[in-house]
Amino acid sequence: MDGISKFWAWWRGRDRMMAGSAEIEEDIARVRAFTMLTHPRLVNLHRQVETCEKRKIPGAFVECGTWKGGAVGLMALANLRHGKARRILHLFDSFEGIPEPDAAVDGSLAVEQVRSVQGGVDGRLVAVQGLYEKFAGSVGTLEDNRRLLEKEIGYPAEFIRYHRGWFQETVPADAGAIGSIAILRLDGDWYASTKVCLDHLYPRVVPGGFVIVDDYGTYEGCRKAVDEYREAKGIRSALGKIDSSAYAWVKKK
Ligand SMILES: C[S@@+](CC[C@H](N)C(=O)[O-])C[C@H]1O[C@@H](n2cnc3c(N)ncnc32)[C@H](O)[C@@H]1O
Repeated sequence: MDGISKFWAWWRGRDRMMAGSAEIEEDIARVRAFTMLTHPRLVNLHRQVETCEKRKIPGAFVECGTWKGGAVGLMALANLRHGKARRILHLFDSFEGIPEPDAAVDGSLAVEQVRSVQGGVDGRLVAVQGLYEKFAGSVGTLEDNRRLLEKEIGYPAEFIRYHRGWFQETVPADAGAIGSIAILRLDGDWYASTKVCLDHLYPRVVPGGFVIVDDYGTYEGCRKAVDEYREAKGIRSALGKIDSSAYAWVKKK
């Protein structure tokens, strides 16, 4: 096991120890109805925020693919608990559902799931109807995100940026105004959705900052986009396994 793999093994051990701690569980309970993330992913995310605050890692917290905002909500709660100052939170989503996967790159699971609701698999930027209704209850709207963050959590609205639309349009257009990023959380499932975010937002992640890819272990296209990007950019930081789907790495200093 090399040094970085040892780091992730240690980190997961700490996650297991911290799961069940009153403060983390209290914060998770407040966002539970607004997120699809598993418990290990939520514990890990809470600890990443705490680490950023304690080590004074500068930058915004960004999520691409927020659904109802629960993961961003947890970052907000952890910042309120551990941060001396508020972070800017950037939320990227269509807020109307996921676009079509592309059968050429996204793999059989994505294709099967989308075809099960009669959706197209040609990679068009149109929302697949009925997918979240079938697998998660409903799509996440901008109003769901706003209600959780601003009303239920009470995070100050002047620190929240909503980027509404397809990543392929909003991410390239808005990346320049984002500044540095401490945590980049990618949760867009498909190849094209993951790739555009890495291309435009990864360069903004500060050394010591975290990159989390929620679907690396689940969807082939997401994994392909990450592997290609890491290979092209010569990124050697070990991918740490959070659970069977989510992986993360720390940008090297
Ligand atoms: C799996 S859900 C995100 C789950 C969320 N992070 C949570 O805490 O439960 C994926 C989200 O990504 C969004 N999404 C995926 N690809 C997108 C794209 N290319 N442009 C805009 N939104 C996209 C979908 O609308 C959906 O809300």
